[in-house]
Amino acid sequence: MTQIDTGLVEKYRARLPLPQGCQAISLCEGNTPLIPCVNLPTKLGVDIKLYAKYEGLNPTGSFKDRGMTVAVTEAHARGAKAVICASTGNTSAAAAAYAARANMHCFVLIPEGKIALGKLAQARMHGATVIQIQGNFDQGLALVREVAEVVPVEIVNSINPFRLQGQKTAAFEIIEALGRAPDYHVLPVGNAGNISAYWMGYREYHDDNLCSNLPRMCGYQAEGAAPFLHGEPIENPETVATAIRIGAPASWDLAEQAVERSSGWFASVSDEQILQAQRWLAESEGIFCEPASAASLAGLAQDCERGNIGPGAVVVMTLTGHGLKDPDIAIAQRQEPMVTVSPTLADVRETIISHLE
Ligand code: F0G
Repeated sequence: MTQIDTGLVEKYRARLPLPQGCQAISLCEGNTPLIPCVNLPTKLGVDIKLYAKYEGLNPTGSFKDRGMTVAVTEAHARGAKAVICASTGNTSAAAAAYAARANMHCFVLIPEGKIALGKLAQARMHGATVIQIQGNFDQGLALVREVAEVVPVEIVNSINPFRLQGQKTAAFEIIEALGRAPDYHVLPVGNAGNISAYWMGYREYHDDNLCSNLPRMCGYQAEGAAPFLHGEPIENPETVATAIRIGAPASWDLAEQAVERSSGWFASVSDEQILQAQRWLAESEGIFCEPASAASLAGLAQDCERGNIGPGAVVVMTLTGHGLKDPDIAIAQRQEPMVTVSPTLADVRETIISHLE
């Protein structure tokens, strides 16, 4: 019997606070692979069981689709005609795609010059009105909150509670795949919605006796954009991982609760650690994620080295977005020039032999 994947809203409708019977606005998101890492534990020098929740395989290439299907489904059910978000790129790509599917207008506010090329291409391609602001994400989100008071647009940033409801389903999938929750869940933290949503999802299954343990939540920030490490918002966040270039996270309290109640922690990693982790994932596991996603592995490596995570642990890391989102960084990661030769067997053969030596 064939079975068509219907996406998150249909699969988890009973666990989502949506109006009964409303039409799902879906692109068959979710159900992403939980890939066992075969080479990284050796590289990290610690005998852990490591899994990558590869969210880059969602329809628009990031975990944002989970929240967006629920937020746009709900807005559409109320008859909304337009959605708006501020974004470092991925939210805008997801909002643009789901709005297109729902025949709604989409407005996105992005920091000029600070979003990855692939994400901009997506928002443009799906027909969103892209408003570049000469400022950062935090200023964009403040503007979105203000403007939504005076024009008829629905906010689909994660301050919209339906976003986190959708994103919690990733925790459900992990428990369904492992038959338990991991000991540690490690992930990047920007606006802090995702760490809050995962904790919500883990707790929900735990409360319903669908798993007997809960993970420690470990949230990693880029050194130059680490308000949780400073203990307060910061004004001018800076990092190569533009997706998490955020200084005033909206879900501050929820994220702090997730970390405290799970006996987890926040830590920061340098841009160099992030870029190295991105290369490790690509070279050692064949998994291409964007820089912000690699903060998961960068933080994990640091925590293994510091002895915070030890042998025998079951660890899940979320790889939040696909590497193709940010081709500029990927290409800049390679210092050695590409080989150009004449179209002759001799030249090609010579090149291969010299590389095999
Ligand atoms: N990783 C990626 C690839 C992201 O795009 C984001 C957030 C995060 C991690 C952090 O998740 O905000 O829930 O803590 N991107 C948002 C955006 C801000 O606009 O696309 P968070």
